[in-house]
Amino acid sequence: MSELLLLNGPNLGILGRREPEIYGTETLEDIERIVAREVAESGWKVVSRQYDCEGEMVRAVQDSYDAVGAIINPGALMIAGWSFRDALANYPRPWIEVHLSNVWARESFRHQSILGELASGVIFGLGAEGYRLAAQALLRRGVTG
Ligand code: DQA
Repeated sequence: MSELLLLNGPNLGILGRREPEIYGTETLEDIERIVAREVAESGWKVVSRQYDCEGEMVRAVQDSYDAVGAIINPGALMIAGWSFRDALANYPRPWIEVHLSNVWARESFRHQSILGELASGVIFGLGAEGYRLAAQALLRRGVTG
């Protein structure tokens, strides 16, 4: 069965309890359900991983070369996760960078992503809906598996 990687970085395992006024009340499990529902008809299986450590994020990317693609919220690794960036530079599948919050409306240190230029697309500020749209975008790219 074709697998879609859903990869969330540091501090995203506590969604629902983490600054809900910024990140919303949905938990990571809610987001997993949203994405799984979106791709179910295409027969894709969602493989969800969340890590607080950059090395584990690197390994997750390296282990997913056979996936149909990936939806990745790198958390703060967007700002300075250089080894994670190197892993993504070699990732052979399409992937979408998602951020729940509109980082442009926040502190200036969040205004750049070192990863975005490698992504097939980037979604900011739409909350959990962003993950659903990312799944749709990957489906529409005609990614087959
Ligand atoms: C985030 C935005 C990042 O700046 C922050 O470090 C996060 C969450 C988001 O989803 O809005 O951990 O990626």
